Amino acid sequence: MKILILNGPNLNLLGLREPDIYGRKTYADLKAYIAAVCRDEDIGFEIRQSNHEGDLVDMIQEAYGIFDAIVINPAAYTHTSIAILDALKAVSIPAVEVHLSDISEREQFRQVSYAGLACIKTFKGLGFEGYRKAIEFLKEYLSQGV
Ligand code: DQA
Repeated sequence: MKILILNGPNLNLLGLREPDIYGRKTYADLKAYIAAVCRDEDIGFEIRQSNHEGDLVDMIQEAYGIFDAIVINPAAYTHTSIAILDALKAVSIPAVEVHLSDISEREQFRQVSYAGLACIKTFKGLGFEGYRKAIEFLKEYLSQGV
């Protein structure tokens, strides 16, 4: 079982960016957290981040035939990117959406999630823990062979 963890724009600035919303832990901390979860769960994984929409689309396309599932935090592209939605639909790899903050409690423009339309589950407002829940959810989902 191999999971691709994809993070979108500005998540590389975790720790620096709006710490009152996203916390003081850095992107390196997030990668270490995800790696520890995957090792505990005995899951193969790759963690990638990009600030560019097309790169994220490429990464989703390249996941076809290689990864069994995708955990994606498309960050700001969540609310704008039909290209990422279409890529997730195209490859049809089971995907779970994660947001560190609770986007449903934030600005109006964050209320729409295009990527979420192609995801089987969303975890939001749980900080790093959302990634753990997403990975555990996908492990269970894939083990059921659905
Ligand atoms: C985010 C929420 C998005 O609205 C925002 O643009 C981000 C991060 C989150 O993880 O809470 O960059 O995806």
